[in-house]
Amino acid sequence: MKICVLPGDGIGPEIMAEAVRVLEALELGFEMEEALIGGGAVDATGTPYPEATSRLAKAADAVLLGAVGGPKWDTLPREQRPERGLLAIRKELGLFANLRPAILYPELANASSLKPEVVAGLDILIVRELTGDIYFGQPRGVEERGGERYGFNTMHYTESEIRRIGRVAFEAARKRGKRLCSVDKMNVLETTQLWRDVMTELAPEYPDVELSHMLVDNAAMQLVRAPKQFDVMVTGNMFGDILSDEASMLTGSIGMLPSASLDENNKGLYEPSHGSAPDIAGKGVANPLATILSVAMMLRYTFGREEAALRVEGAVKKVLAQGYRTGDIFEPGTSRVGTRQMGDAVLAAL
Ligand code: NAD
Ligand code: IPM
Ligand code: MN
Repeated sequence: MKICVLPGDGIGPEIMAEAVRVLEALELGFEMEEALIGGGAVDATGTPYPEATSRLAKAADAVLLGAVGGPKWDTLPREQRPERGLLAIRKELGLFANLRPAILYPELANASSLKPEVVAGLDILIVRELTGDIYFGQPRGVEERGGERYGFNTMHYTESEIRRIGRVAFEAARKRGKRLCSVDKMNVLETTQLWRDVMTELAPEYPDVELSHMLVDNAAMQLVRAPKQFDVMVTGNMFGDILSDEASMLTGSIGMLPSASLDENNKGLYEPSHGSAPDIAGKGVANPLATILSVAMMLRYTFGREEAALRVEGAVKKVLAQGYRTGDIFEPGTSRVGTRQMGDAVLAAL
């Protein structure tokens, strides 16, 4: 059981150190090997996704990633930017299914940006398509046209791409509350009309799941108006990126939101949904819980170790109940701790 560990940039190494300590404490005999990705990889090798990292990631059963990116690399040519490394590994490993659960732990009800009664008991799963859409569409670029600069990107999906993410979402809904909301912009975009059509065509195969459709602008609004109306949401790469950040705040902080990116065989890349947080990097204050909860998702989805996953999630619940809070979820009456102390608390709870 091999895990490729990619700490990345900014707070990446800080939160990863805690996640690795949790993994080691479980004593499940995982072999871990670290490699470069993102800005650190650009600095060391000139490319954000070096060949050595690619080889290690392909040979591993799972990849655990911190975060990539930062202002230092924002002016590089696009193909050398850290984010390209992340997109490349997702594409190369065929990780088309991105699962982003937004769960409100009762202890964080007051940290949510919404009123406690609106979010209490929130448990939604966003299923985001991850290897298609405008993120990867060609042609793309910025060119000189008609005497001015012209920027263009291409949104596209094949019906088979839509069908395979649709199946993941229907299956997930089947195991949960049996409600699936597909989010699109079919009133304007042809690609997403196809999205809606394919989701509708799949529905008869899942008679136990209730399928609904929603336009993305309304979905963004409904997520903050009455988020508990949702069980599973399925959407494309771009809308899913935006809606999952929005959903994270309902749970108290983006520092709480884990994610799993899976291929057809449940090989996966696991990472927090947040970025490298350059504003707090190096200070030892970042919340490591999203990364630690990503470890739990890895144990569950790639390694089938449900009991170990529940142990990690139980430990996170326990430290929240004990009042440990990093700065992003701090409120009066709780104890503010740093990244390492939060990791210590999770280890003690384990
Ligand atoms: P971000 O998620 O890094 O940060 C947004 C805000 O949330 C910041 O105020 C940050 O301090 C806070 N935050 C994020 N994670 C936190 C944590 N664990 N604990 C406490 N606070 C946390 O988003 P951004 O600022 O838009 O992007 C910064 C860089 O990260 C960019 O280069 C971007 O491309 C990159 N990024 C990478 C990933 C990834 O690697 N998966 C995801 C998103 C953004
Ligand atoms: C995420 C990030 C990435 C994305 C960026 C860094 C490429 O925002 O994982 O949500 O847009 O997918
Ligand atoms: Mn994002």
